[in-house]
Amino acid sequence: MQYDIKDIKLSEKGNLRIEWAENFMPVLSQIKDRFFKEKPLKGIKVGACLHVTTETANLMRTLKAGGADVMLCASNPLTTQDDVSACLVKDYKISVFAIKGESDKIYYSHISKMLDSNPQVILDDGADTISQLHLNRKQQLSSIFGGIEETTTGVIRLRSMEKEGILSFPIIAANDAETKYLFDNRYGTGQSSIDGILRATNRLIAGSIFVVCGYGWCGRGVAMRAKGMGAQVIITEVDPIVALEAAMEGFQVMPISEAAEVGDIFITATGDIRVIGEKHIKLMKDKTILCNTGHFNVEIDVKALEKLSKSKRKIRDFVDEYTLYNGRRIYLLAEGRLINSSAAEGHPASIMDMSFSNQALSVEYLIKNKEKLENKVYKVPMKIDNYIAELKLKSMNIKIDKLTKEQQKYLTSWETGT
Ligand code: ADE
Repeated sequence: MQYDIKDIKLSEKGNLRIEWAENFMPVLSQIKDRFFKEKPLKGIKVGACLHVTTETANLMRTLKAGGADVMLCASNPLTTQDDVSACLVKDYKISVFAIKGESDKIYYSHISKMLDSNPQVILDDGADTISQLHLNRKQQLSSIFGGIEETTTGVIRLRSMEKEGILSFPIIAANDAETKYLFDNRYGTGQSSIDGILRATNRLIAGSIFVVCGYGWCGRGVAMRAKGMGAQVIITEVDPIVALEAAMEGFQVMPISEAAEVGDIFITATGDIRVIGEKHIKLMKDKTILCNTGHFNVEIDVKALEKLSKSKRKIRDFVDEYTLYNGRRIYLLAEGRLINSSAAEGHPASIMDMSFSNQALSVEYLIKNKEKLENKVYKVPMKIDNYIAELKLKSMNIKIDKLTKEQQKYLTSWETGT
């Protein structure tokens, strides 16, 4: 068995933390128990490129219980939990290629090592693995049944590939399941991003001017939680309808060039490049904090920050202090990479329970339907989405109403009016 991890001796700590996370993943646990009995993934090789966390470990255990042969590499150089990698290798005999803080070169070599084992199903988070396969490993494409994509950024990239006509296997967009994005992107990113900022800085949120760039599902979650902690929240947006929503939710809305002059803490959540660039950094106050919660580290122009600085030092874990030519200090968190998974532990297990149940059931669906699916990006079937919501409600001891026959009929008829 091949692997490349930090230290196998960390496995005991990893094991306890994986068990802790499992306590809060009741839906995935139920799927794991069924998979163990039915073995729907028997003999299937699954290659996963995901954040290596306690929650991901429980997904890997579920797929293995279903009979799959599983390999894992990191989907980001800074988000690996090294004790989790150690436990997966030692206790579960899963090949893992991931070390927290690995260079970009090693990060890509780890993806490559994972792909060397010729997986038939790919689980991706950001589409780096699927794009590597299409760019550099074309000979492998025909042996792949399909892929599952975890995040908004990855789904956007894969839809571009579909549009260009180059996508070579079917994709299921786990991100687009309602039990994923409505919860993971909003409440998951909301809590874990604030958690990352607090762990990195211990900065008081109450009374701060907190700028959220992008009011998609992730930005909404962060804005909502920052407001709840007493921040004065400013939203920057490019979409007029979304900006209106933010304004009517009670947030201040303004262009980034205006927000740059007043903000204390900035967080980007747009999925686009150079949202905070040179001209904005020049306007910022002394001791401004910058961080990102979008998938890639492209939203803050770190090169521009470096160019504008006369010195740089690491002042705390995950905090680099840049002193600009004008003497002002800018604090960049986690090198501009995902703050929630770099400085904290990513989304809580209760949220990942639904995201990863979508992943597990999508792998099963893909295997069952591989002959029928075309080389397109598919939504997770609504039946799976509803099933996950029902199990999650049940696990939370929440009951809901059912439509009566009369109500069902009313909703499908048009005759009855005023
Ligand atoms: N993405 C965000 N949070 C995560 C977590 N806890 N595990 C895996 N992927 C994640």
